[in-house]
Amino acid sequence: MLKKYIAIVTGGTRGLGAAIVHQLASNDWNVHFTYQSDEQSANDLLDKYENVFAYKADVKDYKRTREVVEEVISIEGKIDCLINNAGIKRDKSLGFMNERNWRDVIETNLSGVFNYSKFVGKQMIKQKTGVIINISSISAFIGLKGQTNYSASKAGVNGFTKALAKELGPNNIRVNSVCPGFIKTEMTEQLNETEMIQDITLGRFGSTKEIADVVVFLISNKASYITGQTIIVDGGLAI
Ligand SMILES: NC(=O)c1ccc[n+]([C@@H]2O[C@H](COP(=O)([O-])OP(=O)(O)OC[C@H]3O[C@@H](n4cnc5c(N)ncnc54)[C@H](OP(=O)(O)O)[C@@H]3O)[C@@H](O)[C@H]2O)c1
Repeated sequence: MLKKYIAIVTGGTRGLGAAIVHQLASNDWNVHFTYQSDEQSANDLLDKYENVFAYKADVKDYKRTREVVEEVISIEGKIDCLINNAGIKRDKSLGFMNERNWRDVIETNLSGVFNYSKFVGKQMIKQKTGVIINISSISAFIGLKGQTNYSASKAGVNGFTKALAKELGPNNIRVNSVCPGFIKTEMTEQLNETEMIQDITLGRFGSTKEIADVVVFLISNKASYITGQTIIVDGGLAI
């Protein structure tokens, strides 16, 4: 039997991560996804697909990350692709932002990317092949009030992406960031959509599928000469 492709997706239970899990699992991939607390959504995905595996694992937890990656390698023997998707926001203007708001966002959005890239990257170097996609944000490029923590974390992810792409490129491993604008998920449901779309050239929020489609392209061989890039998918918000 032909061996399937193997993916790890962090934060796969909801939003963009779930859309990526659906797209990969419906094609030729075994998908191992992590989540923090949403057991119900994790079980729904497990019920739907035979080729999907779930891990309750906080991306901030370095030791747990190593366990998850080692378990995937022991089951599959390889990892073709890592999607660093898990992320949070804790918006507050700087005067009201406490240390926890700052640390939670930086450690989830940026240290989480370090944790998974470190252990998966080691395996990909052994394989001499692999693709890493970091889900960043348009907030890495444009500042929004109340998002000093979030913008800093995502700008960090983009810097990390470029440096890691240079390190891993000689081993035939590609590393890119996808930077979504406003996408309809739980993360954006508190926003005033009518007001926000005034600034979006295409006049609407994006769908999770529109991001998953770009991720699927970037991990495919059709993107075999793209590395170290930050691909903005924002409906023309930041032009
Ligand atoms: N939505 C947008 O407009 C937008 C725009 C730009 C960038 N992004 C980025 O896209 C990514 C996904 O966002 P989303 O809108 O899909 O968010 P979401 O709907 O809130 O889903 C977040 C996912 O991440 C998981 N997660 C959160 N903290 C985690 C942790 N510490 N460890 C493991 N998993 C964790 C959640 O797991 P549980 O379900 O268990 O909580 C959930 O599966 C994030 O990196 C976000 O910054 C989103």
